[in-house]
Parts: sequence; C-alpha cells; structure tokens
Amino acid sequence: MDLKHLIIHEAARIDQVMREDIDRLADDLDPLLIEILNYGLFSGGKRIRPLLTILSARFFGDSNTDVYHLASALEYLHTATLFHDDVIDSGDERRGEATVYKRFGLSEAVLAGDFLHAHSMAMVGHYGGEAALSVFCQATRGMVDGEFSQLRNARNLNQSEADYFSVVMGKTALLIGAACELGALFAGADEHGRAGLRTYGINLGCAFQIVDDLLDYLGDTRKTGKAVGNDLMEAKMTLPLIYALQRADGADRSRLLEILSDDRARQECFQQVSGLIDKYHGFEDAGEKAKQVIGEAIAALPESAGDHSVQRSFLALSDYVLNREK
Ligand code: IPE
Ligand code: IPE
Ligand code: MG
Ligand code: MG
Repeated sequence: MDLKHLIIHEAARIDQVMREDIDRLADDLDPLLIEILNYGLFSGGKRIRPLLTILSARFFGDSNTDVYHLASALEYLHTATLFHDDVIDSGDERRGEATVYKRFGLSEAVLAGDFLHAHSMAMVGHYGGEAALSVFCQATRGMVDGEFSQLRNARNLNQSEADYFSVVMGKTALLIGAACELGALFAGADEHGRAGLRTYGINLGCAFQIVDDLLDYLGDTRKTGKAVGNDLMEAKMTLPLIYALQRADGADRSRLLEILSDDRARQECFQQVSGLIDKYHGFEDAGEKAKQVIGEAIAALPESAGDHSVQRSFLALSDYVLNREK
C-alpha cells in the first residue's frame, strides 16, 4: 500500500476506535464536553502520531489490534495540547474551522483539554502498563517545559539555532518520539529497538516542526487550515527568522528589529518580513535543515526484523513530512 492509502486506511481505523470510545463516554458525561470532544477530535487531523505508534509496533512484528487503543491515546494528548496551544498562541483557526476556545470559550477549551489529557494517560496505563505510562508522562512534562522555554525566549531577538531546537525538542519532538517508542514497547522490542525508534521519532518531529514553521510563512491557508503569519504576529522566533536576523545587517537588520518590537507592525508588515527572510535565504536554509534532520531520523532506524513494507512506510513518511502542504 502506498503512503497516501496507508494514511487514509489507518486514519479511518483510528477514528473508528476513538468514535466508539467517545460514544461510550457520552452516556456519563456533560453534553457540552462531549460536543467539544467531537468537534476537536473529528475535524480532519492528519493522525500522524497514532499512525507512528501503529507502524512502530508493526515494525517489531506485532499485529495485536489493541495497539489502536494505545495509538488513540497519542491523538487524545495531541488534541489536548492543541486546545491549549490555541489559547496560548491566540490561534483563531485550526483545520479550517474556529478553534475550540474561539467557538466554545476559554474555560471550556482548558477544561476539555484537561479531560483529554487525563483520559489519554488512563488509556496508556491500561493498554501499555507502567513502563509505557512513564515514557508518555516524560514526553508530556517535556512539552510543557518546551512551551515555557518558548515563553521565555519570546521577544529575545538574539536567538540561536540551538535555542530554537531546544524549544522544538520539548514542544513537538518528544511526543512524536514517544509515539514511536510506545509502539516499539508495546511490541516487546528491546532497549536497542526502542531507542532507535525513539530517535527516529524525535528527529522526524523536529523536521515536522521546522516544516510547520515554514508553512506559517509560506503555506496556503486553504490547505493548512491555519492562518498564515500567526507566528510573526505572536513574535515567535522560528528558524527562518532566526537565520535572517543572524545574517541581516545595516538597514535590513534595523528594519527587522523595528517591526519585531512593535505589535502593530508585526501584523501589518508580514510581506516585508517574508521578503527579508527570503533575501537572507532563511526559508531555503530552514528547508535544508529539515532535510538534514530527516537524514538523521532515517539513519537511526534499526534494521527491520521482517516486514520490509513498514520500513518503506517509515521512509515514505519522512519524505511526506518534508514535502507536506498541510
Ligand atoms: C500541529 O500538529 C502542531 C504541531 C506540532 C506543529 P499537526 O500538524 O499534526 O496537526 P493536525 O493534527 O494534523 O491538525
Ligand atoms: C505546536 O506548535 C506546539 C504544540 C502543539 C504543543 P505551533 O504553535 O507551531 O503549532 P500550530 O502552528 O499552532 O499548529
Ligand atoms: Mg500554535
Ligand atoms: Mg505553527
């Protein structure tokens, strides 16, 4: 099966497991909470994290369908972080619709995110046991820490590539690494196998975020389902901008600094900032960096135990992450 069909096929199975789960919960829970969960969960997410858990288990020869339940926990936690992330980033639109906090309110978004977070932990404990829960919680703690680093770094105009990667590692890569490691753990892989999959996932996750940050400047809203220019508006220092700031001098540097330190200018001068980033090859080199990191992801994959189609899916997924438009 090619990657596109694999994604469609597996996403449908993941969705079915989540739908049955939410329908079961619906009997006991507040109808507004259920409405928010349905709204936030079934709105066209790519299901990359649960797909990685499923593929990672299969990579080590496991075909137990319980892995779909474990995998859905990754999507629950991811969705919880998106509910919260849109509050933190003032994101108005996601997957082409109003974000949860815009549509249902701030308290509702925070609480529904808390619910999904707790629910995801219970699922991981149930289907993966104590070791899995420990991997999962370590990634979750890292995510929060990454968000704190991002808050601390906001408006620091002298950020380095290393500062950027430390944020990305926390907020995105650790969870994607955990998605892979949990699949390996579920399949009974040894420490070497687990570590290989974790490193693959962490590097894939870093590249995933670099591409997300490129799409925030260069993407098409109709495809990404998110507003373009939000990172600049929030003064988020992403890799293309960091490269441009490191390289620009004279009038260009003064202009960038002037725009970045003014709320209104950041809203109004998106084209100008994009032009300056482009002039200093910020987009091009961030794209190159993503490619390099993807190379590191692939290099970390252990030898496939048997099913080479899974190995091929991992390679195709790496390509997809680099070239995605949504
Ligand atoms: C968005 O994740 C948040 C980032 C880590 C960049 P995805 O791009 O996987 O979001 P959905 O689930 O497909 O909407
Ligand atoms: C994703 O980063 C971080 C988490 C989901 C924790 P972004 O803030 O770039 O994600 P989008 O662009 O809002 O999806
Ligand atoms: Mg955001
Ligand atoms: Mg983004």
